[in-house]
Formats: sequence, C-alpha cells, structure tokens
Amino acid sequence: MTTGGSAGPVDPTTTGAWHRLAALAEGFSPDLRGWFAADPGRAARLTYDAADLHVDLSKGLVDDQVLAALLALADEVGLAQRREAMFRGEHVNVTEDRAVLHTALRLPADASLVVDGTDVVPQVHAVLERVYDFADRVRSGAWTGVTGERIRTVVNIGIGGSDLGPVMAYEALAAYRALPDGEGEIECRFISNIDPTDAATKLAGLDPATTLFIVSSKTFGTLETLTNARLCKAWLLEHLADGGSAGFDEKEAIEKHFVAVSTALDKVAAFGIDPANAFGFWDWVGGRYSVDSAIGTSLVVAIGPERFAEFLAGMHAMDEHFRTAETSTNVPALMGLLNIWYADFLGAQTHAVLPYSQLLHRFPAYLQQLTMESNGKGVRSDGTPVTTQTGEVFWGEPGTNGQHAFYQLIHQGTRLIPADFIAFANPAYPLQDVHDGQSVDVHELFLANFLAQTRALAFGKTAEEVRAEGTPEAIVPARVFTGNRPTASIMAADLTPSVLGQLIALYEHITFTEGAVWGIDSFDQWGVELGKQLAMQISPAVAGDAEVAAEQDPSTRGLIDFYRAHR
Ligand code: F6P
Repeated sequence: MTTGGSAGPVDPTTTGAWHRLAALAEGFSPDLRGWFAADPGRAARLTYDAADLHVDLSKGLVDDQVLAALLALADEVGLAQRREAMFRGEHVNVTEDRAVLHTALRLPADASLVVDGTDVVPQVHAVLERVYDFADRVRSGAWTGVTGERIRTVVNIGIGGSDLGPVMAYEALAAYRALPDGEGEIECRFISNIDPTDAATKLAGLDPATTLFIVSSKTFGTLETLTNARLCKAWLLEHLADGGSAGFDEKEAIEKHFVAVSTALDKVAAFGIDPANAFGFWDWVGGRYSVDSAIGTSLVVAIGPERFAEFLAGMHAMDEHFRTAETSTNVPALMGLLNIWYADFLGAQTHAVLPYSQLLHRFPAYLQQLTMESNGKGVRSDGTPVTTQTGEVFWGEPGTNGQHAFYQLIHQGTRLIPADFIAFANPAYPLQDVHDGQSVDVHELFLANFLAQTRALAFGKTAEEVRAEGTPEAIVPARVFTGNRPTASIMAADLTPSVLGQLIALYEHITFTEGAVWGIDSFDQWGVELGKQLAMQISPAVAGDAEVAAEQDPSTRGLIDFYRAHR
C-alpha cells in the first residue's frame, strides 16, 4: 500500500507556518475599507482566472502576511506532493487502500494513465462510449419500451453521490435539454429517499410504457436504492398490466425499462437487470465524486453526449489548472487555504455557498456531500487524532431568496460566515420587466443584488453613515453594519455544461486542499456506517418484535412504543 506523497500526514499544527498564522490571528483586525483605500491594486492582485472562471478573492479577510503564511503552510504540509500523488493514482484513500481518480474520468481519450499496472483511460472511454450510445438511442427514440413506445421519462434511482450530482446538474443545465428532433425533452425524475413518499410522488402521473429506470448505486447494496428499485419494478409490472399491456413478457419489460450503473455488476445481474444494460465504473471513483462517471447516465440522456463531453472537458480544464498552477495563483488551492484560515484561526464554523442562479438551486446540497462527507473527520489518515477543527458546515440557497431569509445573520450576526457568491454574466432565460414605462433587464437587477451583497458584507455601514441618514440615535447601533465579512466572488460568462464542470472540479479541489492540510483521508466515509447497521438492527423492533425492542435503550424504546401506539 502506498500512502502517497509523503511518509504520512504532517500534523499541520507543528509547522512553522501554523505558528505564524496563529500569531497573526492573535492581533488580527481586518479592515477591508482601509485595505482597499491604501492599496488600489488589491482587487486586481487578488483576482484570478482559472479556465473560464473569474474569481475575486479581494473581499476576503486576507492581507499579504496571512497569504504568505498560508502559502508556506501549503509547502510545509506537502500540498503539491499530495496533489501529484492523487493525480498519479497512488492509494491516497488510505483506509480503503484505494486510488482516488475521479480526475481520470475526464481525461481526453488520447491520454494515458497507468494505475496499478493498467491504463485506465481506455476503460473510461469504453464505458463512456456505451453510455453515449445508450443515451443516443433513448434520445432518438430508437430505444423503445416493451410496448414499442418511445421513452419520455427517465427515473434515476440512487442516493448520496448516486443522486445529488445527477439531479443538481440536470437542474443546472435545464437550458440544454432540448432534443435535436424537436420532440421536446426527456424528463428526468430522481428517487432517493427511502421515505415511500419520494417514490410515490415521483412515480405519480408517469406512463410505465414510456418510462425507463436507471438504478444507480456504486455498491448495489444500499438499502434505500435497492428498496426503491424493487418498488419501481413492482410499479412498472403492475401498471403495464393495468394499462392494457396484458400478455407482455416480464423479463423483456425489465430489460427494456431497467438499466443499472454500478461497480458491482454481479449484484446487478442478481437483481434481474440484463448485464448488457449495465454500465460499470471503478472503486477508485468515490460516490461523491462520481457524477462524471456512468452515474451521470441520466444527465447524458437529458443533455446528450455532446454536452456531457463539454461538461467533462470543463472539469478537466479545472483539473489542469489545479495540477499545474503555482500555489500562489492556484484558485482551488487558494480558496482551500483561505478556508483553513477562516475555520482554524478566525473561528468560522460554517461556510455559505450562494449561487446567484436559480438553476444552481441544488448546488449547495450537492456540495454538502462533497465537502462534509469528505472532510468531516476527527483522525488523520494514520489514525492519530486531529488537533485542529476540520470540515466546515457548508450550506446555502440561491440568491436573492436567501437575502430575504438568512442573510441578516451573515450581515449583522455574531458569527463569522465566509460566503462564496457565484454569478453569471448572461442569463439562461433573458426577460425584460416593464416598470413605469421603462424596460428593465431583470438579469441586470439580479446581478446588482449579487454585487450589492458582497459590497455590503465587505464594507458595511458606519455609525456616522447611519447618522447622516437622519437615523434617531437610539437605533443607530441596530443599523450599523460592521463589514469585514469575507466573501469570494466567482463569475463566468454563462452557466454552460463546461462551466458547471469547472465549478464542480473547483470545489472538489478546494475540498482536497483542506483535507491535505488537515492530513485526513478525504475519500473514506466510515462515519455513515454505524447508523446503517443500527437501522437494520432496530427494524424488527419497529415492525413489532418485542424482544428486539426490549434490547434498545430507554429513549429508543419509548419512541418505538409511541410509533406502535399511533400507527
Ligand atoms: O452512505 C454514504 C454513501 O456510501 C455515499 O458515500 C454514497 O454516495 C451513497 O452512500 C450511495 O452509495 P451507493 O452509490 O453505493 O448506493
């Protein structure tokens, strides 16, 4: 087993740079107003281009000394070596003894990457070709259901990484879904929760004859997904029969209406799905890093192979930036290091991601798995306990909705909440509002809000400014904005498939950078196992097994009793 990039993780708190940062944090008194006034070059100096993303970090709480110490920290913990080790295919997922190669999923076909003795690039492209062929057949109508009708709806059944990426990207790329033959679009629905409401509501109104299910599960052993897949299989067979398709062949119906994506193709076959209709991937793709593998099949069906290839190319462009740019101009590395500064030295516990794009409404939820399942760890990759905070809580909602809900706390609350704002120069749907006889570009109004928020958070409003507005003295304090609330502004021209790929890869590498500094294994997720095991143990008690109920702790037993009394 190779642990990759160094003999073992460095305890970051033992480095000189950490001590320097701790000393800087002691007397740190951020002054974005003063910093901008004294340094007309600040905005330009702290603004970077990475692929098509234009990233302004100048409204962050960082000065030259802090930046220099963060760059030194990256050197001392061996960020560059760890990054190289990941890209090379070393087993940087130490606790599972696996390579971590989501970046290989977006390598061009003529690249080569030999891992554990095998060139993985031809394998990746062979699966991609099969997924593309399948998607083309569904999109063109060549793939029909058991009654010979064209497929109109695809239902992805999966959870966690087998759901969040595809659904987020499907929503984000709504403007790219039109079928080339003018036949509308393939609607995708996503069933994830074992709450039966999810399957019931998502199946409502669907015609089984025109519906195709994609069972997406890396392990093909996930309770939620297998339960929902069985529910959907039963629904399909029952409703095909009800719909007058009596006499259809059940095996053929499953073949034509069920495909699967998994690394466990034997389990797919055991479930009854034709192996010819299964798309594989590899254990070196983590679930939360898998939207660019065959797990993205529903997305490929929705937007078509050409657009999906652009999505992969966008990810690759960001990979290349992360792999090759000096740390001092490397956007994911800089953003990751700034997050370390906020979380470990300035006491931030959460991090908001605020897309000024309704199409990105699932992006924060997607990032929650990516960042928190990756970096929610309390021991380093060699098993020693961490001596720092790890894994901020990521959260967010699209602007401007959040402005009318939780921004109050970001502006005037007592907590430091670094926030990433994401905005696009061009709208997916340009609309004009006519107001008082004037035509107003609604997207420009939207962008003005994004700019206003980041400005208000950075520069605030002083008591003098509040008084100058004629505010009664008694309420001046309530109307003061302290400012110095850090933001990063990420802009691109348009939310294209490529730009979405770049954004995803940006956050993957921010997450990697933070994990590398903390010395943790960002690619395992043992913390989700205990709950899974206990659910299986408790399940008989919920169903009425008194003996198993008696084995539970008093609180759990009481809750089971309540359930049994009220069912
Ligand atoms: O329980 C957590 C998890 O393992 C995630 O990491 C993963 O994305 C999700 O479950 C779904 O797993 P699978 O794709 O194997 O069904």
